[in-house]
Amino acid sequence: MLDNSSFSFLQHHLHLSEVSSTNDVAKQLAEENLVKQGYVITADYQNTGRGQAGSGWESERGKNIICSLVLNSNIPIEFQLYLNISMCLAVYDFVKQYCSNADVQIKWPNDVYINDKKVAGILIENSVQGTVIKQSIVGIGVNINQTGFDSHKATSLSAITGLTYKLEECISGLLHHLEHRYHQLLAGAHADLWHQYHEFFYRKNKKTQFNADAVDFEGIPKGIDEAGRLVVLIKNEVKTFNVKEIAWV
Ligand code: BTN
Repeated sequence: MLDNSSFSFLQHHLHLSEVSSTNDVAKQLAEENLVKQGYVITADYQNTGRGQAGSGWESERGKNIICSLVLNSNIPIEFQLYLNISMCLAVYDFVKQYCSNADVQIKWPNDVYINDKKVAGILIENSVQGTVIKQSIVGIGVNINQTGFDSHKATSLSAITGLTYKLEECISGLLHHLEHRYHQLLAGAHADLWHQYHEFFYRKNKKTQFNADAVDFEGIPKGIDEAGRLVVLIKNEVKTFNVKEIAWV
């Protein structure tokens, strides 16, 4: 494993006005050996922002956090799930700090919700060599000051609190939380990460509508299994689903 103790996410920050996607810029710069562990790329606007499962990511110019973080964790591939968990928890910590009275939860697999609406999404793209994750580009979008959305299921810090935030301060705050959780991951605190991810798990133990194979059904989310699949109790039977097999309705 690398000596990961000596870097800070606050040290190397490149801010750009407009990009295709900060994840694509980070990947390209990493391929050219121009960025390494702990480098952060942010932008005012992405014209081709990308989300999970081939979806897009829309974010009003200059209103929100759009950032990508370069990590060279060298962790074994079997711990990939804990990288996801640690990054989700960092974004959770950040949002909760600003909205301490609101219901902030982590929605499987990689979203953060406030009061049943999405405030943040995470897209992690890993390069694997053999059995080790050599590099990860962790792309994070957090809605901060945007208040109008096409989707009625989207929200922002500002929409919740009625306040306007300084983006640079928000970015520093987010990086601080990311650094903390990343060090927790590297220290091997898997049990703590697992426990806390489940503590803040969206709709845990609540009756919830899902869709799988074009059929809507009711189930009770219980958490995830060691492979990162969603565990749902359906008519007293425990079933597990990977990301492509089930959708929240
Ligand atoms: C999702 O919820 O589907 C994940 C959204 C991830 C969006 C961020 S914004 C910064 C980075 N660049 C991208 O193109 N996507 C991620």
